Amino acid sequence: MEMISGLFLVLSFLVVLSVAVLLVCPESKFKKREEEAAAGLPNGSMGWPFIGETFSFLKPHKSNSIGTFLQQHCSRYGNVFKSNLFGVPTVVSGDFELNNFVLQNEDKLFQSYYPKSVKDILGKYCMMLVPGDLHKKLRTVALTFINSSKTSPHFLHYLHNLTISFMDSWNKSQHISFAKQAKKFTMHIMLKNMLNIEPGDPRATQMLEDHIAYMKGLVSIPINLPGSPYNKALKARARIQSTIKGIMLERREKNEHVLVDDDGDFLDQMLSNEECLLDNEEKVSLVMDLLLAGYETTAGLLALLVYYLFQSPEVLEQLREEHLAIRRKKKDGESLTWNDIQQMEFNTNVIYEALRCGNLVKFVHRKALMDVKYKGYYIPAGWQVLPVFTAVHMDPAIHQNPSKFDPLRWNDRSMRKIVNPFGGGMRLCPGTDLAKLEATIFLHHLVLNYRWKMVEEDYPVSYPYLGFKNGLKLELEPLENNFLDE
Ligand code: HEM
Repeated sequence: MEMISGLFLVLSFLVVLSVAVLLVCPESKFKKREEEAAAGLPNGSMGWPFIGETFSFLKPHKSNSIGTFLQQHCSRYGNVFKSNLFGVPTVVSGDFELNNFVLQNEDKLFQSYYPKSVKDILGKYCMMLVPGDLHKKLRTVALTFINSSKTSPHFLHYLHNLTISFMDSWNKSQHISFAKQAKKFTMHIMLKNMLNIEPGDPRATQMLEDHIAYMKGLVSIPINLPGSPYNKALKARARIQSTIKGIMLERREKNEHVLVDDDGDFLDQMLSNEECLLDNEEKVSLVMDLLLAGYETTAGLLALLVYYLFQSPEVLEQLREEHLAIRRKKKDGESLTWNDIQQMEFNTNVIYEALRCGNLVKFVHRKALMDVKYKGYYIPAGWQVLPVFTAVHMDPAIHQNPSKFDPLRWNDRSMRKIVNPFGGGMRLCPGTDLAKLEATIFLHHLVLNYRWKMVEEDYPVSYPYLGFKNGLKLELEPLENNFLDE
């Protein structure tokens, strides 16, 4: 009897507890939601525990669209909403004013913030990840070099010749997988400019393979098991790092680091500049940052240009006219200069429009350093914020017929204030001019000397990095009246 009454007591207690949990929790949850909503935390859904909505957010989609996830969330909650992405509570923003506010307040209200798995691959000195003084030091060194490259006659001449030799080799094959070839081309440019590695050097092939593995790892599930993309990326990173360290050591031993003339590469400049306040680890890391950021993005831009120009014969014709006008002022074999490029307004518009429509960089990662209120939106301290550029680029309230490739829309000067595919604020892409320079010299030879066609239906995909569904297979054919300037 005692046992039965004891059991009864325990059961009664459990029932009361469950009812209490059922009654209290939804209420506290409801209260919390009410408080958050009153504070201005955007609406949204947090999805599954831990993984939240990450997989739906990252689901590949045509890059000239915002994809199903953003479409559904923006129409349900508006273009700023909350979610749980990459394991943390997040505010996703497709509002250009909020995006701009976030980027302009770097290191004050917000800070660059990437998932741990990305940090492990990129390393602790990676420019994209570090804040404060180290970030400023790395940027200064990078910008000094990029600014000297864009006006270096030696580099311009190299670029000119490399472009011609690549196009010659493409012309000889029947079909080329352009997305792949563009990566090879931009990797060779970066390797020559950073480390004086020539295209024929076996280290160039290894570097390209390692960078491809490195990129795959950045978008993989971070499981460090033998053979996993994440594990391969960590190994590829170690190999790239050791190659750069080896070159550095060799130059130090042979005392070959004082070549700051036309033949000096980035490593030379860092090694011979006493005022370069970076230690050895930071120098190696910076070379790696520029190689990775410089090759993949520019290759994506070239592919977008080839794709959109093929679809828009009128734009191609107008671009050809502009390049021809500059070519007529040049001697045979003379390369374009940075000064020429700055004057080519239509060319610049074509590049920016390809980046707007193709969305090479879909979003960036930030974290709120404190509670922030802006335009009525509340972002709690410690939350991740994702300014999504694609949502602004494709917003029909901002751009008429947003998915149309139309460089003429850039004649409206206000476009530059709203759309900047190179980011903004303290982290504005330091490679902007280098990307424009490489893309323009490439376009110059392409549009003046070749016609091309896509041999297979294709389109750019955001996965969330840019790729082409079928690798962008092309057939290239020399123009009868070409202006080849060898
Ligand atoms: C079409 C080509 C390119 C596009 C669209 C692009 C886009 C961007 C964007 C949007 C950011 C800002 C990231 C953020 O705010 O977190 C960025 C940063 C960066 N980019 Fe580029 N980029 C391009 C080419 C290049 C090139 C050619 C280089 C190097 C030579 C480069 C090096 C970097 C570096 C080092 C950063 C980090 C800057 C920092 O955190 O201060 N990029 N890029």
